[in-house]
Amino acid sequence: MADLVTGVAGFIGAAVAEKLLAQGSSVIGIDNLNDYYDVSLKKARLERLQKMGKGSFSFYPYNIADKEAIFGLEASCRDVTHVLNLAAQAGVRYSIENPFVYVESNVMGFVVMAELARRLPKLKHFIYASSSSVYGGNDKIPFSPDDAVDQPISVYAATKRSDELLAYTFAHLYKMPCTGLRFFTVYGPWGRPDMAAYSFTSKIIAGQPIPVFNNGNMRRDFTYIDDIVHGILGVLNLPFKEVAKTPTRVYNLGNSRSERLMDYIGAIEKALGKKAIYTFLPMQPGDIEETFADITASAEDFGYAPTTTIQEGIPRFVEWYKAYHRV
Ligand SMILES: NC(=O)c1ccc[n+]([C@@H]2O[C@H](COP(=O)([O-])OP(=O)(O)OC[C@H]3O[C@@H](n4cnc5c(N)ncnc54)[C@H](O)[C@@H]3O)[C@@H](O)[C@H]2O)c1
Repeated sequence: MADLVTGVAGFIGAAVAEKLLAQGSSVIGIDNLNDYYDVSLKKARLERLQKMGKGSFSFYPYNIADKEAIFGLEASCRDVTHVLNLAAQAGVRYSIENPFVYVESNVMGFVVMAELARRLPKLKHFIYASSSSVYGGNDKIPFSPDDAVDQPISVYAATKRSDELLAYTFAHLYKMPCTGLRFFTVYGPWGRPDMAAYSFTSKIIAGQPIPVFNNGNMRRDFTYIDDIVHGILGVLNLPFKEVAKTPTRVYNLGNSRSERLMDYIGAIEKALGKKAIYTFLPMQPGDIEETFADITASAEDFGYAPTTTIQEGIPRFVEWYKAYHRV
C-alpha cells in the first residue's frame, strides 16, 4: 500500500505527507518545485519529510502536466491505493496576470494525474484539492456543496471547478472513486508566503505597510492547517454511499466561522506585539467579499470537526515564522 501525493513540497501537501509518514505509510511525492514563491521554503518542507525516519518517502521533481514523465511512474506506483492530487497553481490574484500556468497545472495536470490514477491496479480513491473560490459570485451564505457553482469569477476558480467536472467524468467513465475537497483559506506553520498571514507578518515585522483590500470589508473562513489535514485523512478511506452510481462527491473543508479580515490582522498584530501600517485599497478583480463554509456534510460523513480559532492558530503561525526566519 502506498499513497501518491502531488504538490508534496507545498504547504498542504507537505503537512499531509508528514502525517501519513508519521503513521508509517509509504508516500510517493511529486512536485515540480516551481518558483511561484520562495523555492527554499519548498525545499525545507521536503527536507523535513526526507528526515522523518518513519514510513518511506520517495520524491520525483516532475511537472504533473508532463504526460511522459508522469506515465513513466506507472510501474513505481503499482502499490498506490490513494492518489492525493494537491499540486496546482494556487492564488486567485496571480491567475488574472498569468492564466496560462493555471490551465497547464490545474487542468492538464489534473487530467494527466487522473489518467495515471485510473491505470493503477490497486487504486481505491482519487482525492483532489478544489477551493472555496468555486463559489465565486454566490451570495447565499454559508456556502454549501449543494449550491450551484456556475459563476467562477477568476481563472483560478474556473480551473478548480473544471477539476470537479473532470472528476465526475472519470468517475462516470471508469468508476474511479473521486473526492474533491474545497479548502477555505488555509493558514498555519509552514504556510504560503503569498497568503495573508505570511505576507502581513513579514511586512509588519519589516515596518512596511500592508495592503488591505476592499478597505478591510472582507470576511474569510480561515482554516488552520491541522484541521485541514485532519479532514483530508478523514476522507481517505471513506466509502461511497451509493457505489453503483457515479462515485464522485465534493466536500467543504473550512472552519465554518466567517471572520472579519480586520480581526485576523488584529490577531497577527497581537501575536507580534506590533501594530501594522495599513494601506486601504479597493476590491481586487476576481476576489470574493466573504467566504463561509457549511461543513454539515463533512461533519456527518467523516466526523470533520475543526477546533482551531484564529486566536489560537495565529500565535502558532507567528511563533513558527519567527523561528523559521530567525527574527
Ligand atoms: N492554501 C489554501 O488556502 C488553499 C485554498 C483552496 C485550495 N487550495 C488548493 O490546495 C492545494 C495545495 O495548496 P497549497 O496552499 O499547499 O499551495 P502550494 O503552492 O504551497 O502547494 C502546491 C505545490 O504544487 C506544486 N506544483 C504546482 N504546479 C505543479 C505542477 N504542474 N507539477 C508539479 N507540482 C506542481 C508547487 O511547487 C507547490 O509546491 C492546491 O491545489 C490549491 O489550489 C489551497
